Amino acid sequence: MTATVIDGKAFAATVREKVAGHVARLKEEHGITPGLAVVLVGEDPASQVYVRSKGKMTVEVGMNSWEHKLPAETSEADLLALIERLNADEAVHGILVQLPLPKHLDEDLVINAIAPAKDVDGFHISNVGLLGTGQKSMVPCTPLGCLMMLRDHHGSLSGMDAVVIGRSNIVGKPMAQLLLGDSCTVTIAHSRTKDLAQVVRRADIVVAAVGRPEMVPGDWIKPGATVIDVGINRIDAPEKGEGKSRLVGDVAYDSCAAVAGAITPVPGGVGPMTIACLLANTVTACCRANG
Ligand code: GUN
Repeated sequence: MTATVIDGKAFAATVREKVAGHVARLKEEHGITPGLAVVLVGEDPASQVYVRSKGKMTVEVGMNSWEHKLPAETSEADLLALIERLNADEAVHGILVQLPLPKHLDEDLVINAIAPAKDVDGFHISNVGLLGTGQKSMVPCTPLGCLMMLRDHHGSLSGMDAVVIGRSNIVGKPMAQLLLGDSCTVTIAHSRTKDLAQVVRRADIVVAAVGRPEMVPGDWIKPGATVIDVGINRIDAPEKGEGKSRLVGDVAYDSCAAVAGAITPVPGGVGPMTIACLLANTVTACCRANG
């Protein structure tokens, strides 16, 4: 079998188009422009790339975008004061603090200082609790993007066996909640899971979110299963020449694609969907703020 490639890049473009349509209507009919504030502390190169990309796409769909770049040595008090100001600013509908933060800052404290209604990442403890109890919440962008691709490919996910590899607060845990909400039978596997290969082989849906390059080989995949690869790992690529690198996911693409029914590529799979969902969450936050 050769897997169908789930084109996240194309799907994300359609989501952004819909978001742009909503933004245009909010402006024309209500005189409101949704706005997203992104806070970056320090100079982590990968975070700088993500933040730039988020800002560019926010503007492209017609929303207001603010980037707050703070030095790595910013104090917790100064960061909390900025969040307070953004919480109080009616023009700001969404707030995102790029993670990871420098070590001297308490991530939980900072994230929980964001007004839950503006927490477009869905990381605030209130949103985590709302999602866990099946109530209306802000849903974390990466798992939401994965769910949208799965629903688009399968229609109903009801009764499917899903294995999520990885138990992070950003991806693994909320992904499991969303799959459970769609009536999958869900297993969360992680670095201490015994006989991971056997666990993964049961799955109709595999979501790999461990951050280990090409960790899942094709012989772990049940024939016909759907594989969602959340990993974005940069590895040396000697075949491309001196100092060159390439991006790979958490699954070994070629061997998995030979067995799976459908698979997301890296790049061009989950990544573009994450930003599209961030924009969608910002419009949702704006609509909820304005009744
Ligand atoms: N760092 C890596 N992924 C994310 C994300 O989805 N949101 C934020 N705020 N930081 C991240």
